[in-house]
Amino acid sequence: MVEKVRKAVFPAAGLGTRFLPATKAQPKEMLALVDKPLIQYGVEEAIHSGVHNIIIVTGRGKSAIEDHFDVSFELEHLLETRKKKDLLETVRSVSDMIDVAYVRQKEALGLGHAVLRARELVANEPFSVILSDDVIDAETPCLRQLLDVYEFYHAPVLALMEVPRENISAYGVVDAEPVGHNGGRDRLYRIRNLVEKPKTEDAPSNLAIIGRYILTPEIFHSLEAIQPGSGGEIQLTDGLKHMLRSRPIYGYKFEGKRYDAGDKLGFLQATVEFALKRHDLGEAFRDYLKHLAL
Ligand code: G1P
Repeated sequence: MVEKVRKAVFPAAGLGTRFLPATKAQPKEMLALVDKPLIQYGVEEAIHSGVHNIIIVTGRGKSAIEDHFDVSFELEHLLETRKKKDLLETVRSVSDMIDVAYVRQKEALGLGHAVLRARELVANEPFSVILSDDVIDAETPCLRQLLDVYEFYHAPVLALMEVPRENISAYGVVDAEPVGHNGGRDRLYRIRNLVEKPKTEDAPSNLAIIGRYILTPEIFHSLEAIQPGSGGEIQLTDGLKHMLRSRPIYGYKFEGKRYDAGDKLGFLQATVEFALKRHDLGEAFRDYLKHLAL
């Protein structure tokens, strides 16, 4: 079996109901934070982590994603004749960025089901999963942090984050024990159990799963073996729980700031903070915000 993680799976077939009407005719993965679609943040994180093989699980009405990562001759030609060199480079760098494959999820039957659709393209090797709703700003890309753990233990690794108790039922939640790693015991955990979207009173901890996973191909067998769970969907969390019977799974409390860009407030927060960090926009935007009567 190949040991190196070369592939990243991006489930992108969801209906995006939380962003209607914006997502009626446009995939939510194409909503732009400042000037870059959500999915591109995830793809860039994979590339900066050394994972270059991108697999996007799409569905009906998602062709804008394929067009985004494809070459646009008309646009390039126009920018060339108008001598817009910078823009031309920006546009080219997107299509040059990745080696991308698409697979279709015909029905939105859950995250686990989406990952299962990538089985043939992933084949018998470890792989990563990135949920583009979770945008993570970090010095070392979050996926890279998980890969460092994977390369040490050769076992599946999930991104974890502490969330306030009142929000816990929006997440997959783990029961986990701390493990010593890199001279500390505050980041790495060995998972004892996992529950998808528990009621607040049933949550085993305040440690939520965030949308970055390093998985091994055994997950496909587990995803086939399980029944629909929360929301009547095939849940990745349930597949992981099934896999836990036969192999250890780790969780890593990553360093960095995560934005829930699948939520309107989270999306706005990410927009403001990313805009403030931009060298071409930050100063003017900061001045503008200062003058708002808040
Ligand atoms: C998915 C996962 C959940 C995880 C969350 C992180 O849920 O099923 O376990 O905690 O992503 O964003 P969703 O937000 O798609 O409902």
